[in-house]
Amino acid sequence: MNPLATSTLPRTDLYIGGAWVPATAGRTVPVINPATGEAFAAVADASVQDGLAALDAAVAAQGAWAATPARDRADILFRTYEGILGRRDEFARLIVDEMGKPWAEAQTEVDYGAGFFRWFAESAGRLHSEGQYGVEPGGQYRIAVSKRPVGPSLLITPWNFPLAMGARKIAPALAAGCTTVLKPAVQTPLTSLLLAQVLQEAGTPAGVVNVVVTGNSRGVVAAIMTDPRVRKVSFTGSTQVGQTLLSQAAENVMNTSMELGGNAPLIVFNDADLDKALEGAMLAKLRNGGQSCVAANRIYVQSGIADEFIARFTERMAASTTGEGHDPATTLGPLIDDKQRATVHELVTDAVAKGATCLAGGKPINGDGYFYPATVLTNIPADADIRTEEIFGPVAAIYTFDTEDEAIHEANNTPYGLASYVFTENLSRALRVADALDAGMTGINRGLVSNPAAPFGGTNQSGLHREGGTEGLEAYQETKYTGIQI
Ligand code: SIN
Repeated sequence: MNPLATSTLPRTDLYIGGAWVPATAGRTVPVINPATGEAFAAVADASVQDGLAALDAAVAAQGAWAATPARDRADILFRTYEGILGRRDEFARLIVDEMGKPWAEAQTEVDYGAGFFRWFAESAGRLHSEGQYGVEPGGQYRIAVSKRPVGPSLLITPWNFPLAMGARKIAPALAAGCTTVLKPAVQTPLTSLLLAQVLQEAGTPAGVVNVVVTGNSRGVVAAIMTDPRVRKVSFTGSTQVGQTLLSQAAENVMNTSMELGGNAPLIVFNDADLDKALEGAMLAKLRNGGQSCVAANRIYVQSGIADEFIARFTERMAASTTGEGHDPATTLGPLIDDKQRATVHELVTDAVAKGATCLAGGKPINGDGYFYPATVLTNIPADADIRTEEIFGPVAAIYTFDTEDEAIHEANNTPYGLASYVFTENLSRALRVADALDAGMTGINRGLVSNPAAPFGGTNQSGLHREGGTEGLEAYQETKYTGIQI
């Protein structure tokens, strides 16, 4: 076992207006370790009143933060980047304990999350070059265009990447000059609270970042969303919740960024480098135990290599070691909770009942934690739910195809459009297929596309706008035009 499994917990109060405060009603909410099913911490459980107090603090801090020179904001972000890396093991331990992913993956997430602070520190340092100044085409007067922060922003993050998802929203918001209220998922609050500590130590002024954990997510979010002082909501989570937030945002014509559900196709052509394709498929399927919006949800293999791919892929899936994340032997952690495990198992049983072949796994692992084995399904019938539902678990659904057109048609046959993956050694085919895929992101011969410097996001019901890249900063900016008569 990793010795860090016993290190201390971060602050467990709410972080509002630069102070650590208990919830008004004194209530707490337990944090469960999904590998044991047991509570190992309790954190303050915010009420609607606490949520609105956090918004008050963000609103009060907005003017001064927007007026803080971009270079000074960048310095704070850079110190946060260093502060996260200085506590790399502490963050990784919390991520393992509250989310369940294996130790090596938790460390990778810490680096990924810290990277957003570095990227947006660099972006904030370049903010002066964003404007335009010139004479309008008729020669009558001048046009000046500049950027300004959108304003106080509500950031709602999921449990699957407890650090990286908060980092991907807080860093650009702060870089642009927006103050924030972060509402992390109630399953994984400790990582966000440690992040708030690091931001505080980095010199973030009071009220610029506020963190409210709540077991009454719907009530607290609805109260904040109906307040016209909030100017932006950024959400990562299900399409269904995103739709509710979009309708709430419409009331006050609020700026929105939505990173919603996915149903990613991964296509392997006959001319793929099979080793590369296997590596990529394993990563795209099993990263985070498949609990990711960009996980390969449908694996399409061309008939010429299908037998070999399926045999070798199944062998690798079956060799996954399921276990507690601190155990160095573990390559596949538990699912987040029993409900998630039941949902995954329902998709498997439905497919098998309708005629699918299960080549590996397929049954929940008995014991205390929420473990589910790496599972491979083939011969999946047209009416199986797994063809259209987001799996969010370690279950590979494999389909075969004959022609390129067929693969593209099948891949695009979904209302979602987040990630997609193509494996082929033929460059023309790779680019042609990537262009034809209706998805916000395509990995060519890669099973991972996430990068702080790249725009992450989807088309259709997978969301609106992008996070990361230059687009990630723009999402927190308004454009201001001034007409100048000299
Ligand atoms: C997600 O699953 O929502 C995010 C995954 C990533 O950033 O790679």
